[in-house]
Amino acid sequence: MRIHFTSFSRRLAIWPTLPLGVHLRRDADKRPFPLNQEGCRIYSLARHAIWNACRAFGLGAGDVILVPAYHHGSEVEALLQAGVQVRYYEVNDALEPDPEELKEQMDHKVRALYIIHYLGFPQNAAYWREWCDVQGILLIEDAAQAFLATVNGQPVGSFGHVAVFCLYKTYGIPDGGALFSIAPPEPPSSVPKSGYWRMLKRHINWVAARRGEVGFVHMLIKPVFAWWKRINEHAHAEFDLGSPVLPLSKMSSYLIPKIVDEKSAVQRRENYKFLLKHLGNMVPSQFATLPEGACPFAFPVQVQDAKTFLEKLKRKGVMGLLFWLNPHPTLPVEQFLRSKSLRERVLALPVHQELTRSDLERIVKVVKACSAISEVASEPVVSVNYS
Ligand SMILES: Cc1ncc(COP(=O)(O)O)c(C=O)c1O
Repeated sequence: MRIHFTSFSRRLAIWPTLPLGVHLRRDADKRPFPLNQEGCRIYSLARHAIWNACRAFGLGAGDVILVPAYHHGSEVEALLQAGVQVRYYEVNDALEPDPEELKEQMDHKVRALYIIHYLGFPQNAAYWREWCDVQGILLIEDAAQAFLATVNGQPVGSFGHVAVFCLYKTYGIPDGGALFSIAPPEPPSSVPKSGYWRMLKRHINWVAARRGEVGFVHMLIKPVFAWWKRINEHAHAEFDLGSPVLPLSKMSSYLIPKIVDEKSAVQRRENYKFLLKHLGNMVPSQFATLPEGACPFAFPVQVQDAKTFLEKLKRKGVMGLLFWLNPHPTLPVEQFLRSKSLRERVLALPVHQELTRSDLERIVKVVKACSAISEVASEPVVSVNYS
């Protein structure tokens, strides 16, 4: 392994880190939506929430759900494991479903429309709720990346019949997948995991973002863990459902009242605006304007070759994320070219609330340095000719 002198630097992770001082904080009295709702259920992961929601609605063999081709993959696996069939639709230029295309996909088997609030940018869920009501089907809002996001003051996830959220994508907690549904299932009853190890990792990430020495050790150890995972896991392990009845870990239950705070959305928006000001020319058009109620999960940039660019950033201490490079294996990739293009060219950078101004300045500097030596995607990601 080649070690660059720039390796001896702080590591800025895409995943929110966990401040050491969190243990000294008092529990908050109030909790944001959906944690303040009686019917809210919390599992270890959002995919468990999806599986349980399907079961609670009696969705299964013979039922079809319309799902976007631009997806993570674990949500699709959860739907399939629940026994339903998925029918893919393409997203339009604005990453929304196209009502005309959806109409063509409709038949008596379709029971639900699944929409994703990409990167914490809200979809027009009110419109889709109305659309679903007219069709007589359910609306499932995937707010895995949109916890704390709102539309005109109304929480994302409160428009549909079902909504799922990933709490650990917004906070440096070990796990957490929330379900809000008009038909809440029984609370998960199996034994929770402790979550100590994951909590420790999030704490280490927090220190590594502040101390170059720790960041350096982190950089040396991480590839070993990644290699170990690669040789021990099968190709699509990241989509695995695991046990769908696994509850929230003990450490997450302890941390949530100390760390969850609506103000995190404000900080994330501020961070996003800062990056937008300096790197706006690299942002896909769909994310170039920040809506008022968005709670950005990450800062997207488009490049010609996201994989190579990511490696360059990593060497300089900025840990981005290939945003959904691999779809669920059931997706006929070549039939959904816009989604394919997005997968190959968009990568996500850190924007979380634990970043300091100096971290953000560093991200800008590193991204500019890396883009000076590689070609930034010159065309919009969505310019796909379907003819
Ligand atoms: C859009 C979307 N939905 C659902 C999930 C599943 O979340 P979890 O990993 O908590 O099961 C993810 C995970 O990345 C996701 O990106």
